[in-house]
Amino acid sequence: MCGIVGYIGRRAAAPIIIKGLEKLEYRGYDSFGVATLGRGIEIFKHQGRIAKNAHSAVRLNGTIGIGHTRWATHGVPNNANAHPHTDCKNRIAIVHNGIIENYAKLKRELSARGHRFLSETDTEVVAHLIEEKYTGNLFSAVQETVPQLQGSFALLVISAEEQRIIAARNASPLVIGIGDREFFAASDMTPILEYTERAIFLEDGDIADLTCEAVEIFHGTKTVTRPVELIDWSVEDTKKGGFSHYMLKEIYEQPQAFYNSLRALDPETLPAIAAKPSSVTIVACGSSYHAGLIFKYLLEETCGIPARLEFASEFKYFPPPVSGLVICITQSGETADTLTALKQAKARNCPTLAITNVLGSSISRVADATIFMRAGPEISVAATKSFIAQLAVSMQIINIFAGEHDTKMLLHAHRAIEEILLKDLSDAVSVCKKAQSIFYVGRGPFYPVCLEGALKMKEISYIHAEGYAAGELKHGPFALLSKDTPVIAICMPDSTYEVMISNIKEIKARSAPVIALGMEGDSDLADVADIFITLPDTHRFVQILTSLVVLQLLAYHTAVVLDRDVDKPRNLAKSVTVE
Ligand code: F6R
Repeated sequence: MCGIVGYIGRRAAAPIIIKGLEKLEYRGYDSFGVATLGRGIEIFKHQGRIAKNAHSAVRLNGTIGIGHTRWATHGVPNNANAHPHTDCKNRIAIVHNGIIENYAKLKRELSARGHRFLSETDTEVVAHLIEEKYTGNLFSAVQETVPQLQGSFALLVISAEEQRIIAARNASPLVIGIGDREFFAASDMTPILEYTERAIFLEDGDIADLTCEAVEIFHGTKTVTRPVELIDWSVEDTKKGGFSHYMLKEIYEQPQAFYNSLRALDPETLPAIAAKPSSVTIVACGSSYHAGLIFKYLLEETCGIPARLEFASEFKYFPPPVSGLVICITQSGETADTLTALKQAKARNCPTLAITNVLGSSISRVADATIFMRAGPEISVAATKSFIAQLAVSMQIINIFAGEHDTKMLLHAHRAIEEILLKDLSDAVSVCKKAQSIFYVGRGPFYPVCLEGALKMKEISYIHAEGYAAGELKHGPFALLSKDTPVIAICMPDSTYEVMISNIKEIKARSAPVIALGMEGDSDLADVADIFITLPDTHRFVQILTSLVVLQLLAYHTAVVLDRDVDKPRNLAKSVTVE
């Protein structure tokens, strides 16, 4: 949700922290702040984007510092609520990702003891609690404070009197990068990749003491050793590389992301718990839920394995009857709802499998087994290449379950995706950019493709868009159709082709312009549609991928024409670590 960065070493800390926060801005971007150990604790914090205000922050002195980029939960975005927060005497500064659930009670007690609060945040109580315990040993003060906190937190803390950073983790991600007599701490690897590929992922309950010379990790009162992992993401993956937006770059990376993720899983590496399940429950949120729905359709259609799909956010409060394999799909591996659902499934003795893109993520630590996709870092808030990577893994699992070990057709899919990247969608963009509302319709696995296309359109262009199973449009939404309400219809040569053509005619009869996606050479569809976008004639699985990429590009180009902030849409954040 929020992003945090810390640096301790011999270089100027503020520029490293600012650069790191820019890499983490996808996690939240309503305000930011930095604290360094210069002449005492020096702080700069500001509402708004980092790029516009970074010049003041990089002037902070010191070679030790912490920083934060915020996605507001407690208190509106403003300078006072921006992190870092300090104690009454400005001796302690902290940044926090997560939510302190018992903050209100703690704040009342602290206020009664004379502490002054400057913000509406939950975080500020932690600075004051540490202040009460601080007698010259920051590590001990944090260690005594942590048991008082309920909720989730990744904390970085500095004191004006000590050359160290204390890092604490509970249910929010925190990784330590290991350099040459310098250390980094961050919400994920992206700010660290430029300096080192060696990292330690802290576990829940860990507290780390970082000095220029060493990092020491404690769990409770005991020192613990955590493995040093080598991260194979490249720093180039975190740059725009000449593209105008990360989203466009990531859409163009999809042929490779699909190919790499397909190869992340061969029959030998399918975790044993996933071998031939009698039934499957898929749990996910947002785009990952749409990937889950495609997975469900294909699993039932191809392998005859019954599959149910649940919103992770509902799973907790309305537990469905599950017994077989539970699969959690999550690109970040940190989504709070999915994590909670996973823990519940485990508590009910279900074998659990996670499909995620992030090594060391919380969900990968809890699941019985994890398949890591190989999409590389995704910076744009709207998921694209991570979505296609989820489909790669899902399709590969289906192939393995179906005993279909010849994956040539999927290994060649990247060529079909490359072909789509060259499509001219300007006619369709001209129609969409004027719309107040757009409907997307398809059947079978193309219905979730429509849901995902509509989600992309609404989140980055701010145009209202809805995906429907094509047969459902006539049961109510027809009332909204007019010449100003475009309908995007995916019409593939399968058992639903004829009925889709009828649906399109019914839509046309209500004056709505139709943008149809179908096979090249389909003259019947071309005749009935106002705009016809052709897809190469490929395997059904690959048709899903190519139609999806068209809808991603349509949303992207529409958002660009409307001058939207494509990579950082309003009110959103990439990793949703609150329920
Ligand atoms: C939309 C998007 C979100 C995420 C959702 C779940 O573009 O990215 O809908 O899919 O917040 O996130 P993960 O996959 O990290 O669990």
